[in-house]
Amino acid sequence: MDKQKKENVVWHHTIVKKEDRQKLHDQKSCVLWFTGLSGSGKSTLANKVEERLYSFGVSTYLLDGDNVRHGLNRDLGFQEEDRKENIRRIGEVAKLFVDSGIIVLSAFISPYIEDRKKVRNLLEEQEFIEIYTECSLAVCEGRDPKGLYKKARDGKISGFTGISSPYEVPVNPEITVNTERMSIDCCTEKIIRYLLEKGYISIA
Ligand code: ADX
Repeated sequence: MDKQKKENVVWHHTIVKKEDRQKLHDQKSCVLWFTGLSGSGKSTLANKVEERLYSFGVSTYLLDGDNVRHGLNRDLGFQEEDRKENIRRIGEVAKLFVDSGIIVLSAFISPYIEDRKKVRNLLEEQEFIEIYTECSLAVCEGRDPKGLYKKARDGKISGFTGISSPYEVPVNPEITVNTERMSIDCCTEKIIRYLLEKGYISIA
């Protein structure tokens, strides 16, 4: 931030606070940050988890990589710097949603450990739940739901994650779901159980 901006832009505190909004929704807001290779099941799983939460009356919002890249981040590509900016903006958006008392589900490859850590640090402790959708490159490539791995192998897409661009596996994620070995329902239940056990949500 330039010096003039720093001096003249002042943070406003609101009368209604995050805690009040959480009480209204009867939930502890947080981010369920899904990370993993393209085709590892992030979006599918985030959708299923959101559907289950909705059925319990939990207030949620799902931020999805492909969708956000159609709007807010339409100016960004897949170079390292653009991916970093993509995740930085999503982190800020997720923080606003958490402040509003909502449980956010985000489904972005988010390939760099450092960028995921920055989002974690933006939030308070326990507000960031990293969920690794573990799945081998071979299986993701076999699924190839959008035909992008084939394009990447044929040299029609450069810098494709897992093939010609890195993916850094989470070191200590709160939750790992192996989408190769576990059914989607099993993965969903594992996440719902975590939220119940840690008191983020309650079922009447
Ligand atoms: S991230 O790396 O910046 O976190 P993001 O999750 O927003 O990526 O977008 C990934 C989606 O964009 C993929 O699921 C895929 O559909 C599409 N995509 C297009 N080009 C690439 C690429 N070079 N690498 C990875 N995904 C790509």
